[in-house]
Amino acid sequence: MTSNLKKAGGLPFTFRILQYRVVAVFGTETRKIFFNNPSLDFEEGYRMFVGGPKMEDIDIKTDVIDSISDTIKRLNLLMKKERISDTLPVFLDDINNKMLKWGNQGSINPFKQVYDLVFQMTIRMATCHELSQDPEMIEKLSKIYRDIESSATPMRLLLPWIPSPSKKLVGRATMELYLLFLKYVQANRAAGAETNDPIDILIRNGDDDNDIVELMIGIVFAGFVNTGVNACWALLYLGTHPQWREKATSELNSLIAKHTTTSPTGELFHKQLALVPLDAWESELPTLELVIRETIRLSLNVTAPRRNLGEDIVVQNALVKKGDFLVYNLADTHLNPDIYSNPNEFDPGRFENGREEDKKAYFGYLGWGAGRHPCAGMRIAKLEIKLILAMLLLGYDYTLVDANGQPTDILPKPNRNDIQQSRPLGKPVYMKFQRLRD
Ligand code: HEM
Repeated sequence: MTSNLKKAGGLPFTFRILQYRVVAVFGTETRKIFFNNPSLDFEEGYRMFVGGPKMEDIDIKTDVIDSISDTIKRLNLLMKKERISDTLPVFLDDINNKMLKWGNQGSINPFKQVYDLVFQMTIRMATCHELSQDPEMIEKLSKIYRDIESSATPMRLLLPWIPSPSKKLVGRATMELYLLFLKYVQANRAAGAETNDPIDILIRNGDDDNDIVELMIGIVFAGFVNTGVNACWALLYLGTHPQWREKATSELNSLIAKHTTTSPTGELFHKQLALVPLDAWESELPTLELVIRETIRLSLNVTAPRRNLGEDIVVQNALVKKGDFLVYNLADTHLNPDIYSNPNEFDPGRFENGREEDKKAYFGYLGWGAGRHPCAGMRIAKLEIKLILAMLLLGYDYTLVDANGQPTDILPKPNRNDIQQSRPLGKPVYMKFQRLRD
């Protein structure tokens, strides 16, 4: 897709996948149509192109959650401000407990260890206390999601009815997920628990077991593919841009100074961070906001799919018939030199007042979606990334090293041909760290 984009020189091109026509489109006018036109269906697009776990793969029927708007209504129930505020200190306990296992100094692969921190928070945010407290079960879950991700082969996505090894693998993995989550839903229902855990909230909402399981599977998948990987990229970019790292660190220090009265020596560091209210995490970290925005601009250059369920339309002079698929590679916006100067450079300042490069074009930034399908998980995803950055920038010193332990500033590149997530391509980079405070 990425190389064809270059070859096509900004013109649409069409290809076939079996009986389906797929039209790849580019440009500002197209973006308007792609993200705004109600006939271009989001779910049908993703059903075809993205290999996430689906209940239909294991023949489980759900009653309520049969559309993206149902999913979003339920997500909003779980993302209420009070619930996020209550969960914030628990997130920090979770992060700290996992970080303690790293020891006081050493080297970690961010795309494994930092990724795991985010996975833990995602489970906490989407399921229940009992599961979030069980490291073995969480490791098992993480392995199942990795299996599902690795089974998104072209064969399985494009010829889903063929019983390929990856189809069998995803079927087995989705069934395992289903049974695992179902056990917790049934136990919570039987206990009649009145807590603020997502499972209990959804039970009180009148949802049946399968609907709850389906939502949990989907939320964890969204966190798994997006939030973890962006937290890792942000740490790598900050590791190679000392001026932004210093700015972010000093902003976090000011946040703590303003909101906590405890002496830094008298309180465990992560407990001190937990005293900062949610509002402050959300509105008083402009530098971190810029860093996250820029990280996502550079990393999230995957291809977004839609399917035309309405009348035939013309996009960029290309006919998109009813039933055709439409795909748009986000790099057309995010790495476009007409919108972003030196688009491959990490430069969070490009979003600051006075520059605001993203405002140069309609839908000039797509990191959190645009138009009809803005990201419903942005609030929680941003908070999780900020907590990881706070713990690592203030609680640790780290430098980037290569596989031989030598300092490096050569970063891998986000894989733009992976439709699910921006995993690193190239030589891996590690974080050599020293823990600075308890
Ligand atoms: C850094 C993390 C994340 C990034 C960068 C991100 C990005 C995006 C983008 C670009 C879209 C639009 C896709 C399109 O138009 O084709 C989207 C939609 C969506 N995201 Fe996220 N996402 C993140 C985390 C999450 C999380 C954690 C959740 C769940 C809790 C979530 C739930 C959703 C949902 C439900 C939609 C569809 C919304 C709709 O159809 O109206 N996202 N996200």
